Amino acid sequence: MAKTTSSHDPQSPPPAGRRDFLTRMLAVACGGLATMTPVLAGLWMLLDPLRRRGAAAAFLPVTDLASLPDDGLPRQFPVLADRVDAWTGFAAEPIGAVYLRRQPGSETVEALSATCPHAGCFVEIDTQEKCFRCPCHNSRFGIDGSIMPPSPSPRGMDSLECQVGKQGVAVKWQNFYTGVAGKVARP
Ligand code: FES
Repeated sequence: MAKTTSSHDPQSPPPAGRRDFLTRMLAVACGGLATMTPVLAGLWMLLDPLRRRGAAAAFLPVTDLASLPDDGLPRQFPVLADRVDAWTGFAAEPIGAVYLRRQPGSETVEALSATCPHAGCFVEIDTQEKCFRCPCHNSRFGIDGSIMPPSPSPRGMDSLECQVGKQGVAVKWQNFYTGVAGKVARP
């Protein structure tokens, strides 16, 4: 009579059923790893720029005081900053523009963002009329940035914090939500 046994001899290959099971488990593990790697990398790519955007707004040097005539008329200056786009860094890239106005006979400087609060177009200065105009939908602003009715913009131009020191004139650059009455900084 033939001898039967359910135990497996460690010297011989595993039975077909068990071999299939192990192969399938290995395939599942490899598939999981292959799927999770790009997912995790994508999450990191997504979250890293967001993390950077959450950093506090900083004062950025714009010009020296001598370049700003003290005649009470605004002058336009670009705002430059080192920018990071996902993993790529750009040095001294234009990120916006400001109008600086130096009070007559003083070192006091006021700064206005050149971004229109209506829909984000670029506000231009009208030196003849001594006011600002937005070419997109014809909003008008006083030389101090106040809204001049009738204008579609829901608020006046956005003022920015400004510092005058040995390094020159620096502004705390911020973007604000457009199309709303309140001046709310974007994160
Ligand atoms: S974007 Fe300036 S008036 Fe509309």
